[in-house]
Amino acid sequence: MKIIMLGAPGAGKGTQSERIGAKYGLPQISTGDIFRANLSAGTELGMKAKTYMDAGELVPDELTCDLVVDRISKDDCANGYILDGFPRTLAQADLLTKVLAESGDKVDFAVNVDVPDENIIARMSGRRVCGKCGKPYHIVNMPPKVEGICDNCGGELIQRKDDLAETVKNRLTVYHDQTQPLIDYYDAKGCLVTVDGTKDIDEVFADIIAALEA
Ligand code: AP5
Ligand code: MG
Ligand code: ZN
Repeated sequence: MKIIMLGAPGAGKGTQSERIGAKYGLPQISTGDIFRANLSAGTELGMKAKTYMDAGELVPDELTCDLVVDRISKDDCANGYILDGFPRTLAQADLLTKVLAESGDKVDFAVNVDVPDENIIARMSGRRVCGKCGKPYHIVNMPPKVEGICDNCGGELIQRKDDLAETVKNRLTVYHDQTQPLIDYYDAKGCLVTVDGTKDIDEVFADIIAALEA
């Protein structure tokens, strides 16, 4: 099963992909997490991506596409995967369609986690992420068992630099301009599933699973 996650910054793509991945034994591939891991490791890719990410802009397609095409060719992707944060532009979506078609394949589900802009800023200010494995938490909605520590790996929880209110506003603008058109793109392909992302985390997950198994 090949799933892509659509939704505004902070809609819950990461939170839900992790659960979907755990349920079906599929790898969760987050381009944002890959860029952040590269930045922590001090790679050239990480340094290049940083300028764009800190400003809430998209990293250019030429730094993004090859990385994803390479990642989905790995053995652990043989039974499928969840793409969290890719595609984000029509060019990326066309590329994915083309690469999959080369092996007679396609995206099975595009899951659109729908959350209005008004809800996003509050969510982002309370978000903390694991500095080691990237797992997202929220100080009110999804606190870790031990304050400041990741349940998964014991890593330290940090606040993302692009979660400052001003940057979040720009990320929302970029989302509406460049990524929202993908909702129509995948609707036209007949694989769009839209869920109400304002419900609580367990309900959103149950709605997604119901749609995938319908
Ligand atoms: P990325 O890391 O993908 O960020 P994003 O799309 O802005 O999305 P987020 O990770 O911020 O939010 P999310 O939807 O995963 O929500 P989460 O589950 O954490 O990308 C970062 C940057 O990298 C981009 O700006 C860009 O520069 C670059 N980039 C990445 N991919 C790219 C690409 N393909 N092309 C070009 N550039 C790219 O949840 C958010 C918070 O809400 C958490 O605290 C969570 O606990 C809480 N929460 C989740 N669900 C609920 C709920 N139902 N109710 C209440 N709280 C909830
Ligand atoms: Mg995320
Ligand atoms: Zn962790």
